[in-house]
Amino acid sequence: MNAFANGAGPARAALWGCLLSLAVVAPPSAFGDVKGLSKMAYGETKDGEAVDLYTLKNGKITVKVATYGATIVSIGAPDRDGKVEEVTLGFDSLDGYLGEHPYFGATVGRVANRIAKGKFTLDGEAYSLAINNPPNALHGGVKGFNRVVWKAEPVESPDGPSVKMTYTSKDGEEGYPGNLATTVTFTVTADDALRIDYEATTDKATPINLSNHAYFNLAGGADATMLDHELTLAASKYTPVDDTLIPTGAIEPVEGTPLDFRKPTAIGARIAQMEGEPGGYDHNFVLDSGGGKLAFAARVHHPKTGRVVEMSTTEPGVQFYSGNFLDGTNVGKGGLVYKKHYGLCLEAQHFPDSIHHPNFPDAVLRPGETYTQTTVYKFSAR
Ligand code: GLA
Repeated sequence: MNAFANGAGPARAALWGCLLSLAVVAPPSAFGDVKGLSKMAYGETKDGEAVDLYTLKNGKITVKVATYGATIVSIGAPDRDGKVEEVTLGFDSLDGYLGEHPYFGATVGRVANRIAKGKFTLDGEAYSLAINNPPNALHGGVKGFNRVVWKAEPVESPDGPSVKMTYTSKDGEEGYPGNLATTVTFTVTADDALRIDYEATTDKATPINLSNHAYFNLAGGADATMLDHELTLAASKYTPVDDTLIPTGAIEPVEGTPLDFRKPTAIGARIAQMEGEPGGYDHNFVLDSGGGKLAFAARVHHPKTGRVVEMSTTEPGVQFYSGNFLDGTNVGKGGLVYKKHYGLCLEAQHFPDSIHHPNFPDAVLRPGETYTQTTVYKFSAR
């Protein structure tokens, strides 16, 4: 016999009332107390590891981040009429991310960008990495941080909904030295910005360069290139590269070159002058801020929709990549075929191949030190 069968009417009514009110006030999320944050199962990797998708909403934007690759899967941002549409490239489901693709939205590490010939010496010891972008190593290797499942936990933050992802890369993983404990925290703030905070510690000296590889197209899911977007870059200098995209070591002024974006300029305006290798822009810009403090780095404005994304970072450099290698192979969101220049990346970073260039800002993390990196993408419309 249960309690309700024994004339416990008032108690039963009170219990139901209580349950009902709980159902009404409980948000549709596992984290009742983190406003604007929800979680859903996103699928499984080929090895059967569960992947989750977190949705963060604040102000006028919605950001979705998957635990696979700590990947930004979606950013919805309003145009000047308030119409919210997708502004990043990617896929409609996990399957797309598990397949071959050029780092759509992914967290890249342990070392974003290139290391010449995949070889370096640190503290007298020689290391060899996979040559996954012949003749160089690119974006952390064959199974970089973009190809692993991160642990995630919601974070109480006064700034807005926040999810903290952690991954420990083992000593020797992809050829790199030291156990590297990494966290990447995504926060969506009330002023329509996505803030990404990175932190890492190691037990052996290692090169490190963490970044995010989101591709933006502010036209809102349109079947169009981003060549009509206007770019401003707070960089008077850049690092010229050889024909394998490895810096020569020089730091040169952008003045008088098609890389001068100090005033807002349509990306397509001078791209024809960049048609030799690498077929557009794929360069590290030396930010005037010098890095070390959060400072304005870049702004992209799409005149047709009015959408703007403004990037600030603590990093000394930003790789502006104009989606030159997109060739229609990837069929993305809503069946859209991503062709050349359909998306642009602004990757906050230390300079490429820093390990071989003592004149570049140091990108080695040592035991006892904490690596930090903060990058903010703020959305608006005008
Ligand atoms: C970075 C590199 C590019 C390219 C893309 C991924 O932006 O600089 O050369 O490798 O990643 O396709």
